[in-house]
Amino acid sequence: MSTSNSGSNEAWGSRIGLILAMAGNAVGLGNFLRFPRQAAANGGGSYMIAYFIALLLLGIPLMWIEWGVGRNGGRYRKGHLPGMFAAIWKHPLAKYCGVVGMVVPLGVMIYYTYIESWTLAFAIFSATKDYWGQTTQEGMIGYLRSFQGLTPEGGTTYHASWTPYAFFTFTLAVNIYILSRGISGGIEKLAKIGMPILFIFAIILAGVVLTLPPQEGIGATPLQGLEFIYKPDLSRLGEPGIWLAAAGQIFFTLSVGMGSLQAYASYLSTKDDIALNGIATASTNETAEVVLGGSIAIPAAVTFFGVAGAMQIAQGGSFDLGFATMPVVFQQIDKTLPIGNLLGVMWFGLLFFAGITSSVAMLTPITAFFREEFGFKRETVAWSLGGLALAIGMMHVTWLGHGFLDEWDYWVGTFGLVLVAVLETVVFIWIFKPDNAWKSIHMGADINIPKIFKFIMTYVTPLYLFIILTWWGKDEAIPILLNQRSAGSSNPVSDIDMPYITISRGILVAFVIVFLFIIRTAWKRNGYDDRKGFVELPTNRAEV
Ligand code: TRP
Repeated sequence: MSTSNSGSNEAWGSRIGLILAMAGNAVGLGNFLRFPRQAAANGGGSYMIAYFIALLLLGIPLMWIEWGVGRNGGRYRKGHLPGMFAAIWKHPLAKYCGVVGMVVPLGVMIYYTYIESWTLAFAIFSATKDYWGQTTQEGMIGYLRSFQGLTPEGGTTYHASWTPYAFFTFTLAVNIYILSRGISGGIEKLAKIGMPILFIFAIILAGVVLTLPPQEGIGATPLQGLEFIYKPDLSRLGEPGIWLAAAGQIFFTLSVGMGSLQAYASYLSTKDDIALNGIATASTNETAEVVLGGSIAIPAAVTFFGVAGAMQIAQGGSFDLGFATMPVVFQQIDKTLPIGNLLGVMWFGLLFFAGITSSVAMLTPITAFFREEFGFKRETVAWSLGGLALAIGMMHVTWLGHGFLDEWDYWVGTFGLVLVAVLETVVFIWIFKPDNAWKSIHMGADINIPKIFKFIMTYVTPLYLFIILTWWGKDEAIPILLNQRSAGSSNPVSDIDMPYITISRGILVAFVIVFLFIIRTAWKRNGYDDRKGFVELPTNRAEV
């Protein structure tokens, strides 16, 4: 790997390390929890058609754009979107547009780490057989709700109320520790250990699930689960909801629209390949998602609950499939093959490793920002961000039942991603110009990207994004903003939840304002001239 040109002399240690870290960034809870649930809830085969179209026209082009924007930013030692945008678009507004690339990953990191902490908790609960005996879907949902602190009045609780707080605090601390160790010393090392474990666990689980015999009284086979997802079905393609859900999933799973792929790519030089590395990590993600992610939860649910039952579960709570149905399945398997708890450890363990290699990526843009623009030490930045995440995370834990998390998941985790994508496409393709963007992506490239993608990036992707943004605006964003419906369901927000929703949004708005101010301060402090851009690093010149 060539010498670094960004982030205070940080660089990836090796090509394989880079690919594993980038794949670790992309492969996450989205692949194994969100994808199966979405596919089942949106009609299986129809959804998959919309999914693959979004992958080709949105996901893959945006992925290359992000690697390009990121590596280009790295030439000026900029690991954050405000700097990356300002490096291309010599306009005072450019840096402020980059604010979304700070607020979105910070916001997502906080609640993502909280959900990641559930997977650690459930891995331990599997090892100790803590939930053993909850053999029905209802029973397991009761157990899950108890852990989430959502037990209804008079219901049974299984855990002390501090349990989720403890798991969240511990998980966050592990994340921050890894982040504080830096790019090659922390993140790359984690990926080299976590990614192989995750894949081995996933392959074993898929093998066990796909060879399950049909169950008495259900008569469905795991293969019917596969057929449900993979058999092309044109019947529901007329529903816009399916297209929006598929596009949202492509964004989420490939980690595009966050600023974090860009931050990772900023630690590469113009001698490094991004064309082949980019498609290699995207392919790894798709294998993990479509092949492995599709072969575990859905076939398992179909075998024990039938196709209709599995669809119904998927339409229930977001996490019921992964955290309630799967434990029921493991206990059922345990009756004939006494390794149920081991399977549970593997399932939740795989989710934990998938989660943590993603969550550590989310704070990299902000960490880069404070180090590069203010000269703070990595440890200082990491632990300060950890403190902030802890304080706000506590609200997520406490107010989960009031829609606090759903609100963030919508504004930063869904809408925000598309907004970042629109801005970077405009900056990189339209302002920088398609020819320059194409050339920039191909510096040091080991392959030539098919020419058709230049056309797609220039016209098709922006149009697609525009349509999605308009549709989302009309069907979701505006109704949610006006409280005609809540972010987590189609029901309006109740009077009881309203204050929490207001706080939830208030914090996001405050984040935006504070970060705009910090960006302004940074530019003043460093005496940047918006019209001139930044000075390219001399090391990089020598390399080119
Ligand atoms: N791709 C991750 C997943 O599938 C989630 C994610 C979205 C993400 N955006 C990100 C991870 C940015 C790291 C950085 O679960």
